[in-house]
Amino acid sequence: MKDLEKIIYILKQRGFVFPSQEIYGGLKGVYEYGPLGVLLKNKIKNLWLKDTVFKRENIFLIESSILGLRKTYEASGHLEHFHDLLIECKSCHQRFRADHLFEGDYGEVNYKEGKALCPLCQGELTEARTFSLMFKTYVGPVEELASEAYLRPETAQGMFYNFKNVLNSMRPKLPFGIAQIGKAFRNEITPKNFLFRMREFEQMELEFFVKPEEASNWFEYWVEERFNFYLKLGFKKENLKKHVYPKEELAHYSDATVDIYYNYPFGFKELEGIANRTDYDLKRHSEYSGEDLRYFDEEKKEKYYPYIIEPSVGLDRLLFAIFVEFYDEDEVDGEKRNVFRFPPFLAPIEVCVLPLLSNRENLVKKAQEVYKYLKENDFICVYDDSGSIGKRYRRQDEIGTPFCLTIDFQTLEDNTLTIRNRDTTEQERIKIEELKDYLKEKLKF
Ligand code: GAP
Repeated sequence: MKDLEKIIYILKQRGFVFPSQEIYGGLKGVYEYGPLGVLLKNKIKNLWLKDTVFKRENIFLIESSILGLRKTYEASGHLEHFHDLLIECKSCHQRFRADHLFEGDYGEVNYKEGKALCPLCQGELTEARTFSLMFKTYVGPVEELASEAYLRPETAQGMFYNFKNVLNSMRPKLPFGIAQIGKAFRNEITPKNFLFRMREFEQMELEFFVKPEEASNWFEYWVEERFNFYLKLGFKKENLKKHVYPKEELAHYSDATVDIYYNYPFGFKELEGIANRTDYDLKRHSEYSGEDLRYFDEEKKEKYYPYIIEPSVGLDRLLFAIFVEFYDEDEVDGEKRNVFRFPPFLAPIEVCVLPLLSNRENLVKKAQEVYKYLKENDFICVYDDSGSIGKRYRRQDEIGTPFCLTIDFQTLEDNTLTIRNRDTTEQERIKIEELKDYLKEKLKF
């Protein structure tokens, strides 16, 4: 079992993930990304875009607004359905999500006279009441029903109410998709488990519009595509699972859902969901807006609502899975080492350039030349000349840099340098003129 506390500590120390607004006591369920966290997030986003959008035909990327009208979320069904059951302890005032409480997330629940007791202090519990997960605000200076607005709880609705805009501007034929990456907000009763259940998070969602009679086939297709994406990212197959939802547990809009589960330190839990949303969303937005959101099928000469297949993953949840999957500890030269074994294409820093000795002007000058050359050629690289060479290698191992290039005295003679492989710690010597092609090949997805 990997030590989550230790991983979180390293992530903070090394500039990946910070607790939010810590100097003021912190904001629960919200995190800040540091310089390395942002680099890694951008890599994941780009790989998702490449795999889901750009390598395919007829998938269009949009960016819709975070603020949404009350009407939008009446139509989507969120105002009616999107809540959890909240139970509070009358003694210690701890709040629980009812399902989490009874699943034993807080410890064993004892009963007195048939009533459940608080698992933390054995105090009396309130009755369960519904609690909306939507963040509400007002647009403009007057706080009234007409100016009520909501922070979006998923990016999906923006793809539905923009369906006609994309259809009219890009003129695609079915099947086609609209994709989006962006922030979503949910006022979770008990945010927990680091980046797993947050109040502010980012989603990567695809809404794939299909002919109704083809929906089941496309659903199966996307479940496989998305599962394979995680294998391509380098996840071990045994750490992934498909979870098929029984009919009675489906969300209000779904006819079928399969989750891809990842083996988090607290067990197998949802990483991504793939749903067959049927024609629920377009029908509802048509009904509430009065706009006809049907698709005209030129072959059939008829109008109908397409079905929607939706693969949806939380970027932060994926990042969390990546941290857990690739964190490792081993021993090098009798010393313990912490190492992120990110596949090279995911590594936030791709290359580190180091002069063997920092007090030799000619080595430093040459190393800086190589560093500048790599930057000009779009590699994400850093230069490091502080501390012993062993310490410098360890620092890079801890942030997952796959390649360290060392400039030594031989470099000055024959224009070669050594490349140290993070995982094996072995070094090979190559010519600087071959460096660019060598690294490009190694960093391929
Ligand atoms: N549009 C469909 C939708 O939003 P969902 O299962 O509620 O479905 C999709 O969310 C994905 O968003 C989840 O699989 C998860 O990866 C991520 N997600 C949901 N709630 C989250 C939260 N509170 N914190 C972090 N990620 C979350």
